[in-house]
Amino acid sequence: MDVIIRRFRMEDYDRVIELWQACDLPLKPKGRDSREEISRQLRRPEIIFLVAEVGGRVIGTVLASHDGRKGWINRLAVDPGYRGQGLARKLVRLAEQELEKEGLQMFAALIEEDNLPSIKLFEKLGYVYHPEIKYFTRKSSPDI
Ligand SMILES: CC(C)(COP(=O)(O)OP(=O)(O)OC[C@H]1O[C@@H](n2cnc3c(N)ncnc32)[C@H](O)[C@@H]1OP(=O)(O)O)[C@@H](O)C(=O)NCCC(=O)NCCS
Repeated sequence: MDVIIRRFRMEDYDRVIELWQACDLPLKPKGRDSREEISRQLRRPEIIFLVAEVGGRVIGTVLASHDGRKGWINRLAVDPGYRGQGLARKLVRLAEQELEKEGLQMFAALIEEDNLPSIKLFEKLGYVYHPEIKYFTRKSSPDI
């Protein structure tokens, strides 16, 4: 598979949303996944948004970010037709390398408990599971 991995560009937006829908990722089209929000996020230096492309078509994404202490792996998605070929592994490793360039030495991912492929993937990549941690959020509005 001839894959190019490159930075996300705004012209990828529609295809990326389509991909995230095909991958059943939770979407907030009026909130943090809106075109305006993604464009705003891209201007932040701590956001590293990579896409994988085959024959000009985006088939994978990873959006890494960091808070200065820890790197976060988000929005990892591979088109169902291209799974099982090591693409997610490649995307995660490249995202980690980009975070390392920013001085990060610890990486983390939040995974829903029934998402077995992702759990297996992160275990395979050496991530340690923390059953003792509970995840809390607070939103300024439900669409965010
Ligand atoms: C999870 C996902 C990104 C994996 O993509 P992928 O390109 O198929 O994964 P890879 O081929 O790189 O797999 C790497 C390793 O992950 C594990 N893995 C991946 N998919 C798996 C599955 N369905 N079942 C069990 N293990 C799996 C394997 O250990 C695999 O290594 P191996 O092939 O040497 O056994 C893909 O299934 C996906 O897009 N899922 C929907 C979106 C999602 O849930 N994203 C994660 C949010 S945190």
